[in-house]
Amino acid sequence: MESTKTRILKKLLETDGYLSGQDLCEQLGVSRTAVWKYMKQLKEEGYEIEAVQNKGYCLKDVPDVLGESEIKSRLHTRWAGQTLYYYDEIDSTNTQIKRLAEEDAPHGTLAVADYQSKGKGRRGHAWDSPHGSAIYMSILFRPDIRPDRASMLTLVIGLSVAQAIRSNLGVQAQIKWPNDIVLNGKKLVGILTEMSAQMNYIEYLVTGIGINANLREFPEELADKATSLQKEIGHKVNRSALIAECMKKIEENYETFVKTQDLSGMMEAYQEVLVNQDQQVRVLEPGHEYTGIARGINAMGELLVEREDGTITEVYAGEVSV
Ligand code: BTN
Repeated sequence: MESTKTRILKKLLETDGYLSGQDLCEQLGVSRTAVWKYMKQLKEEGYEIEAVQNKGYCLKDVPDVLGESEIKSRLHTRWAGQTLYYYDEIDSTNTQIKRLAEEDAPHGTLAVADYQSKGKGRRGHAWDSPHGSAIYMSILFRPDIRPDRASMLTLVIGLSVAQAIRSNLGVQAQIKWPNDIVLNGKKLVGILTEMSAQMNYIEYLVTGIGINANLREFPEELADKATSLQKEIGHKVNRSALIAECMKKIEENYETFVKTQDLSGMMEAYQEVLVNQDQQVRVLEPGHEYTGIARGINAMGELLVEREDGTITEVYAGEVSV
């Protein structure tokens, strides 16, 4: 059972505008004095709450403290993130997890940084953002799966992060296949998975997640392509709470994945968050382009695209745009 303070905070986070004290008491079954006491505690913790007579309470700003104890105090997992390394600054959390993996760090080890000096994006691009604003984290997996199944893990993580953003913040994050996360059509999260493997044996996988959390602005060239949670929600988000929620969803979905060794247990959930579901998409394969309607994914994580003649093409790799 959640504490009254957590329930009050959740109501404040869910409410767009003012939340009347009377409604809060009725919905939570608590006294006015209790509401007042918890509002005071939340303010002392840094939550900016405006109280207006005859209107109620309005959450104006949320504190954002990132650190080992802040994250740990919110973790309710068995293995995901239980071995945790926090850095004020690091070159790249993916690179750091690889170093830790070579030193026998356990499955589920998480590295989180407040700033990366050499953040890596896909296809050799850099992944930068200012200090104290984004979430940079990487998690180590030592999975018992065949190397040809490794790319599915990225979809598992994409789904988990989209679900965590939805449950933690109440916004409709969606997935652009295979694993970019978008909000209102703009990129919010990037995921980069790297693998160390033998021919038929995975030593480890590192999945790095970059979430545009509390960024106010983007460079001009990204302004119409990228967004942040702060921009979309209108206030800062608590990065530690979101990281903990990501770990919870990752642990749940990962366990479903290794049981079946494919995505059969997650196809419906993935379809629910797929941005192009039942919409026209353009598939850009090397030397070949076509359009069709996106119909979700199959158990291998391939995008199902219905062509004009009604046949279904399974897209394994390639760029998909609207
Ligand atoms: C992309 O290009 O979309 C993938 C971006 C992945 C960025 C994250 S931030 C945390 C982790 N560390 C890195 O150096 N990259 C990943």
